[in-house]
Amino acid sequence: MAGGWSKFGERYTRPTGALELMQDLGVAMDGEHATLLLGGGNPGSIPDVQAIFKRRLAEIAASDESFERLVGRYAHPNGERRFRRLLAELLAGEYGWKLTADNIVLTAGSQAGFFLLFNLLAGEFSDGSRRRILLPITPEYIGYTDVGLEEDHFVAQLPDIRELPDNFFKYRVNFDDLTVTDDIAALCISRPTNPTGNVITDTELGKLDRMAREAGVPLIVDSAYGLPFPRIIFTEATPLWNDNVILCMSLSKLGLPGVRTGIIIAREEIIVALTRMTAVLSLAVGSVGPVLLEKFLASGEIISMSQKLITPFYRRKALAACELLQAELDGIPYKLHTPEGAFFLWLWLPGLPIRSAELYERLKDSGVLVISGHHFFPGVTESWRHRDECLRISYAQDDDIVKKGIGILAAEIKRSFAE
Ligand SMILES: Cc1ncc(COP(=O)(O)O)c(C=O)c1O
Repeated sequence: MAGGWSKFGERYTRPTGALELMQDLGVAMDGEHATLLLGGGNPGSIPDVQAIFKRRLAEIAASDESFERLVGRYAHPNGERRFRRLLAELLAGEYGWKLTADNIVLTAGSQAGFFLLFNLLAGEFSDGSRRRILLPITPEYIGYTDVGLEEDHFVAQLPDIRELPDNFFKYRVNFDDLTVTDDIAALCISRPTNPTGNVITDTELGKLDRMAREAGVPLIVDSAYGLPFPRIIFTEATPLWNDNVILCMSLSKLGLPGVRTGIIIAREEIIVALTRMTAVLSLAVGSVGPVLLEKFLASGEIISMSQKLITPFYRRKALAACELLQAELDGIPYKLHTPEGAFFLWLWLPGLPIRSAELYERLKDSGVLVISGHHFFPGVTESWRHRDECLRISYAQDDDIVKKGIGILAAEIKRSFAE
């Protein structure tokens, strides 16, 4: 372009972790390159779940009314009303939350929802002040990193590390150093956490909820992997919502990333603002996800499907991946974050002689895609060697791919330590 891009263009076309990850994923998925995909956040293929969705699609195709709503009409900019009403009823029934369809807005995937939400709440204000999103614990989701319209959209804190038996460890929120200063617009955590598989405890969550309320700012809880669906969570955890919590959900990890449906549950003022933003940005959000799923919300099958099919699928894969990695890395100074949810192993290699970004490149050359840990510290300005000693490894793909990938990964790690 002769005159270059606009500032907006420059901001959103520069290389980012999210772009690298999605491009790697796209190349691996096109089938032309023999790449073992242990990188992206693509969910696994669960045949029984896919069969349920396929049947439902056929049912919709056979019904004029459903088909019309699926593809033939713009929805309201806050998303399909029937889906929102059924979801509100389901959540009220399951958890006793006092909410209605008016507390729910749908977005074009939760990534797009975070773009709207983070820029609605934080950034530059008309009085010239600036507010930022506080991430009380990192590592945290790579996708938050570059969504801010301006630099420095996030301020974040490093975790405490609790060492556990058998080379496991768990990150905890460092409450001793956590303060919600006046320039904070909201707190945000993912639970289960992408990339670590951490599920911050009910006590930690309760404390963050109180701190946010006392500071008069919302607590955003990203439940893309959590409760009540898709329930990729292997520990006891109680979900939280109240009028100060903004709960973000997604249909992606049910096995439906292609429908691009995100869900934001919040007090009405926030829902109205997000609805207005959607109308400008995209008129309406897609109806395919909502119409596909509404029947399972009405029957509650979305919960039983998550409990009976999705949780056990990922629990088994988590265990298998841990065992493989533990066997392969015997003799190497490694630690694994205890896998409590989502579908990643977070591997920490204390004393790794090269940076994890270099290890990522070497692995890519060897045909294995993982993600370098350094991407997962949005808003952290302190230097910390730990950031460059970690990898995120997805175990969502088919068992033979995970097995082969972990074998190559372990060999490359051993080579790096031997240099
Ligand atoms: C923690 C977390 N939040 C949000 C998202 C975005 O999901 P989507 O835009 O597909 O709804 C992801 C995707 O991987 C994620 O891992």
